[in-house]
Amino acid sequence: MSPSNVKEWLSYGKMLLKKSEIESYSIDAEVLLMTVLNFTKTELFTKDSHILSEEETEKYIKFLEKRKNFMPVQYIIGKCEFMSLDFNVNQSTLIPRCDTEILVEYAINSIKKNKFKTVLDIGTGSGAIAISIAHYCPNTKVTAADISENALKTAKKNAEKNAVSQKIDFIKSDIFENITSKYDIIISNPPYIKSDTIKTLMPQVKEYEPISALDGGSDGLYFYKKIISECKNYLNKNGELLFEIGYDQSLEISKLLSEKNFTEIKTTKDYAGLDRVVSSVYK
Ligand SMILES: C[S@@+](CC[C@H](N)C(=O)[O-])C[C@H]1O[C@@H](n2cnc3c(N)ncnc32)[C@H](O)[C@@H]1O
Repeated sequence: MSPSNVKEWLSYGKMLLKKSEIESYSIDAEVLLMTVLNFTKTELFTKDSHILSEEETEKYIKFLEKRKNFMPVQYIIGKCEFMSLDFNVNQSTLIPRCDTEILVEYAINSIKKNKFKTVLDIGTGSGAIAISIAHYCPNTKVTAADISENALKTAKKNAEKNAVSQKIDFIKSDIFENITSKYDIIISNPPYIKSDTIKTLMPQVKEYEPISALDGGSDGLYFYKKIISECKNYLNKNGELLFEIGYDQSLEISKLLSEKNFTEIKTTKDYAGLDRVVSSVYK
């Protein structure tokens, strides 16, 4: 007998995704069905005898097919949460990672401690970093730059969604190409995966996320080298340069910073105990 109510479709979805070796099959089937029905998680269980309409059934089956083919849930439903804020995402934008929250929390603390007023986010993508800073640090003015027109479109919509449009300037720029001001903080989560490593990534990353958000060149350091060597033209004295980094890049990036006379070079770990953020000060 084919499934008809919420309970039956939920268990069908879980079974289908499990068979397709989706590790997070249970939560994924729940999130997809919650989205189709516009239900909360509680409703999914209290209204489990609700019979799905034809339209709801069709949409859920389409969602399950996409997930079966490893499309990330966030792209299927078009949204995700970051720093307790809601963001739209699509295949022009990297899905913001919880590791990046470490970088944003570091920046927020530093902005508050040093009374910083201006922030430049290079490679803003969905706007996750810029928008979170604008939201949690009401006295800052943020510039969000990206080379991708489509990512910037999404970031602008996300700024509206989070009511911070007035506090952020969006600029299409190849790194510093179109940047003309100086800032108290420059922050970036640039593409940092070695070009050769991309083919070894999980299918949900390499087949769906934009390569331009991942590829950091042959040594993974292209963007760090470029930003570190050019940023003094755009950073105020005593300003900070903050990077998200790959777990194995701390030594090389710290060396690049020290060669350019940055001080107070510090590495911060993520919740898994891996190196994740490198911070430094321009004296
Ligand atoms: C790893 S993603 C980070 C996205 C977002 N900041 C986040 O943390 O979720 C890197 C971003 O850098 C952008 N990017 C790639 N090359 C760039 C360039 N030459 N200049 C500016 N941005 C670039 C990509 O479009 C992408 O949005």
